[in-house]
Amino acid sequence: MKQFVSRVIKNSVINEHFLEMEFEWNTTQVPSPGQFLTIRVSEKTVPLLRRPFAFSSFDSQNKSCSIIYQKRGEATEALSQKRAGEKIDIIGPVGNGFPRFEGKEALLVAGGIGLGPILFLSDSFRKSGVPTTLIFGCRSKNLKPVSPSFERENPVICTDDGSEGFHGTTMDYLNSISQKTGPGSALFCCGPHPMLRACHNFSTKHQIPCYVSVEQVMACGVGACMGCVVKTVDPPGFKRACKEGPVFRSFELEW
Ligand SMILES: Cc1cc2nc3c(=O)[nH]c(=O)nc-3n(C[C@H](O)[C@H](O)[C@H](O)COP(=O)(O)OP(=O)(O)OC[C@H]3O[C@@H](n4cnc5c(N)ncnc54)[C@H](O)[C@@H]3O)c2cc1C
Ligand code: FES
Repeated sequence: MKQFVSRVIKNSVINEHFLEMEFEWNTTQVPSPGQFLTIRVSEKTVPLLRRPFAFSSFDSQNKSCSIIYQKRGEATEALSQKRAGEKIDIIGPVGNGFPRFEGKEALLVAGGIGLGPILFLSDSFRKSGVPTTLIFGCRSKNLKPVSPSFERENPVICTDDGSEGFHGTTMDYLNSISQKTGPGSALFCCGPHPMLRACHNFSTKHQIPCYVSVEQVMACGVGACMGCVVKTVDPPGFKRACKEGPVFRSFELEW
């Protein structure tokens, strides 16, 4: 983990909710899928706290990284105004990412702001020859991201209104292919809590491993404040998402 000043390379709108920002990666530490960085978006005192974002890609040749983010409040609004060449203050890579996988099939499930880390994981599995199915869910086809990084991973699109791809949620799609899953498959997920819980339940039913990346609200982002804890099955009953996570084996967590 290192703190450094980076410059924005590109900051583009990729649908009505998401933007994709590419920026210089000025450290030799290589981020892995599921790890995140924290950004101080302004030199002013507001917003004071750094904000966490998962890596959506890393380009070792160009020494650049990307995030896919949604405008939600002050920090992400300020981030969306950044133009090429502007500075951002970064700490990263932070946390523990997804594990290596050498099984028969990786099933990747992404919803909402969970898209970025799952795209990075899909790219990494594809490059190492792991058979991968990426499932992305959104309400309607106009919420599908329009970006080469998204299209390259050839995702199964699930829409709630049936306007494109599979008509239903990511879980409906998973259930529809459940006969094909079994020993050697594993689930890798990032998205809203109900989706992660449903993935955990699916993995328990089908007896396959499931890894989830949680999106706890964070304050310090470095393991000091205990503001990001998740409940665990084993004592002491909690773990810090920023330090021990954000990726956990789903059976470790209380759902
Ligand atoms: C490990 C990790 C990885 C993340 N990766 C991404 C990413 O790749 N892309 C992305 O868009 N966002 C990501 N987030 C969430 C992101 O950090 C928040 O959206 C951001 O901090 C909001 O800042 P803001 O000032 O714009 O909004 P705020 O004013 O701080 O919040 C606006 C609204 O968003 C909610 N919110 C704030 N933080 C979170 C959070 N962590 N999870 C869920 N809701 C939140 C608040 O409760 C509030 O309702 C990640 C969070 C974590 C912990
Ligand atoms: S955000 Fe402070 S301990 Fe995780």
